[in-house]
Amino acid sequence: MRILGIETSCDETSVALLDVNKGVARMGKHLTASQVLKHAQYGGVVPEVAARLHVETLPLLIDELGVSGKDVDGIAVTRGPGLITSLRVGTDFARALAYGWKKPIVGVNHIEGHIAANWIGKKLAGAYRFPALVLVVSGGHTELILMKGFGKYERLGSTLDDAAGEAFDKVAKMLDLGYPGGPAVSKRALKGNPLEFPFPRPLLNKPNFDFSFSGLKTAVLYTLQRKKAWSEKEVDDLCASFQAAVVETLVAKTLRAAKAKKAKTVFLAGGVAANGLLRETLAATVASELKDVEAIIPALEYCTDNAAMIAMAGYFHLSKKENDGWKGMEPDPSWELGL
Ligand code: KG4
Ligand code: ZN
Repeated sequence: MRILGIETSCDETSVALLDVNKGVARMGKHLTASQVLKHAQYGGVVPEVAARLHVETLPLLIDELGVSGKDVDGIAVTRGPGLITSLRVGTDFARALAYGWKKPIVGVNHIEGHIAANWIGKKLAGAYRFPALVLVVSGGHTELILMKGFGKYERLGSTLDDAAGEAFDKVAKMLDLGYPGGPAVSKRALKGNPLEFPFPRPLLNKPNFDFSFSGLKTAVLYTLQRKKAWSEKEVDDLCASFQAAVVETLVAKTLRAAKAKKAKTVFLAGGVAANGLLRETLAATVASELKDVEAIIPALEYCTDNAAMIAMAGYFHLSKKENDGWKGMEPDPSWELGL
């Protein structure tokens, strides 16, 4: 089964062709055009600009992918959550293709896509043991999800304010490190001392599975306001101390949830999954603290937004003969998983 994936939920335009043959999911051509440089001049994503760039770029990427109706068995497109203007471009384009090519189409939840990224390149049947605990960390979401199988989700907790990626982006802005903030902060953190600034670990000792990052962000701001000039070394230390606080909180809560729910697998998913310290700390902590539990960390190329993960999630739906049909499929910018 060959699936065309389309992702335009935020500021990446992405298309991918996935081929599932003999139970193995193989990624074919996969193209992503990032709008980051355009949005960087505004310090964040401007929805109208994003939508216009998707309109311009999506047909070019499909052309470059070189597919036509005879090459695909179904279409998977991100239907939400995300920016409504961006989602609208991708879903309308995908619907037009489904109509023209007379193919089934499914609208994919973007967060389910991030989770599905962990199946790319795998033999699908029995790839992982369930129940699984998923830590979703992106620019818009920070959630702990209990997964009883593909498509079966229960949200255990989420952020009460900022998402983890959003906190990275805001701290980067305060430090004038540019947009997106995650890669910039984590690069500076490599050279810094994580023990230099004792930032709070929000909600760490609360027995729930929720997160909060706005207090941590404010703590960084108050520290910055203490004086005018900060040396390069001090900025490195600030980044390292902030990153350590975020990672420690994420990993501790994930561990607690995995224990409470007797998870057999722990998945990491979302853009912040590209963070080196988070990847290493989660893998090492699961290995040392949980017996017979596997930590699954997505390949770096599938962490931030991409259409490969959408095609992968789409396969699970299309292979069950699901079809939303080109007529009725509408974007849903606030589509939540597992509520
Ligand atoms: O999943 P994603 O590409 O888009 C959303 O669905 O939101 O995630 C983007 C987020 C941004 O906030 C970005 O700063 C963050 O992921 N990010 C990182 C890293 N790479 C991307 N955060 C921390 N460390 C990184 N290396
Ligand atoms: Zn995302």
